[in-house]
Amino acid sequence: MDKIVIAGGRPLKGKIKISGSKNAALPIMAATLLTEGRSELSNMPKLADIRTMGTLLENLGLKVNRWNGKAKIHSNGYRGHEAPYELVKTMRASVLVLGPLLARRGKARVSLPGGCAIGARPIDMHLKGLEAMGAKIKVEHGYVEASAKKGLKGARIHFDTVTVTGTENLMMAGALAKGTTVLENAAREPEIVDLAQMLNAAGANISGAGTSKITIEGVDKLQGVKYRIMADRIEGGTFLIAGCLPGSRLLIQEMDPQPLDALIDKLREVGAKIELVPEGIKVIAPKKLRPVDISTAPYPGFATDLQAQFMALMAVAEGSSVIRENIFENRFMHVGELIRMGAEIKIEGNSAIIRGVKALSGAPIMATDLRASACLVLAGLAAEGITEISRVYHIDRGYEKIEKKFRKLGARVKRVKVKY
Ligand code: EPU
Repeated sequence: MDKIVIAGGRPLKGKIKISGSKNAALPIMAATLLTEGRSELSNMPKLADIRTMGTLLENLGLKVNRWNGKAKIHSNGYRGHEAPYELVKTMRASVLVLGPLLARRGKARVSLPGGCAIGARPIDMHLKGLEAMGAKIKVEHGYVEASAKKGLKGARIHFDTVTVTGTENLMMAGALAKGTTVLENAAREPEIVDLAQMLNAAGANISGAGTSKITIEGVDKLQGVKYRIMADRIEGGTFLIAGCLPGSRLLIQEMDPQPLDALIDKLREVGAKIELVPEGIKVIAPKKLRPVDISTAPYPGFATDLQAQFMALMAVAEGSSVIRENIFENRFMHVGELIRMGAEIKIEGNSAIIRGVKALSGAPIMATDLRASACLVLAGLAAEGITEISRVYHIDRGYEKIEKKFRKLGARVKRVKVKY
């Protein structure tokens, strides 16, 4: 198991290129299950979760070749229909194969993802939607067994809660269903738009992606496509927050600012100078970090995936702030670790009350989930002394070469192999 060791307190300076989006690449890879022929995906991030999705597709019988930020996926005549527990347990997004398998193969057997560190995360709305489209679903022995012998049919589906992968699963299912599917109270995340664009390029007929009502006219066939994955707004946001650490000045390249509007507004309130330039987003850290409250919400609100990183910044702001987490019930696991570094944070229900301290102090700490570990890296960069973060496999699920990227910006960060 690796550790990341950070000697904190250095301002970050320079340019950084943002990689392709994990949460767009995963559903787009799953969508190749719907297509015939070969797809070529570019701007693919090199991440553990992307490898897991590749293995899952290979298990189903697709051919996946990955090299240098590209993936060629051949999806002719695959026979599989099962996503086994061994793969699903390492990555919840495996559930994204459910809709495509049902639509293309008429059957699917997908392990239930179960709870995870940040919350229970049920998939009831994915299942209800597929049932409304005519699927027969049984949940037995930890697996979702679904079939649609005569194919799926279009339906009007209203989501009780906004769900990102739920919207994606049903949008993919609707692409090959008979008739029209309408998704109401759909998620509006930019990754949904990216998936809809890829599907439309493959021959689908989807309109309204990016709004809360998506209409999908089913078609008979989809073909392979060439598609470039959007930039990772969460990685981009993480570096924008890093650019607010004392004395820092960064240019975030290859990042469209629009998906980061909510964060940019908040960082301007914090006092950062943020300029949108042709090359990307420029951020200059404020002299004084002002405390600012945030409350997470589905897009276009403040992303839950950036909540932990924002908290690292508030931990060293001049005053008190409140962070309210409204999406997941257990997404404050970074708080205990920040407190070990000298932060003053109290949790009350779904709120964290943070009293900024003059400085955090480096300490041995442990990553607990993907975004929490990004928060700890930021805290380590801001802290005085040495921070050692263990269980960094969490961070490798969603950040490409994070230590190299921060080193390029002048941080003292290294990865060390630890033998137990
Ligand atoms: N929910 C239900 N029933 C469902 C589906 C969702 O109750 O059938 C609840 C969830 O428990 C949660 C809320 O609805 O409280 C929203 O969950 P959502 O389904 O939107 O989350 P997700 O699709 O499982 C995606 C991202 C997450 C990100 C969330 C919220 C992917 C692969 N994952 O998860 O990303 O936090 O949306 O924006 O796109 C990450 O990258 O670190 C990550 C966790």
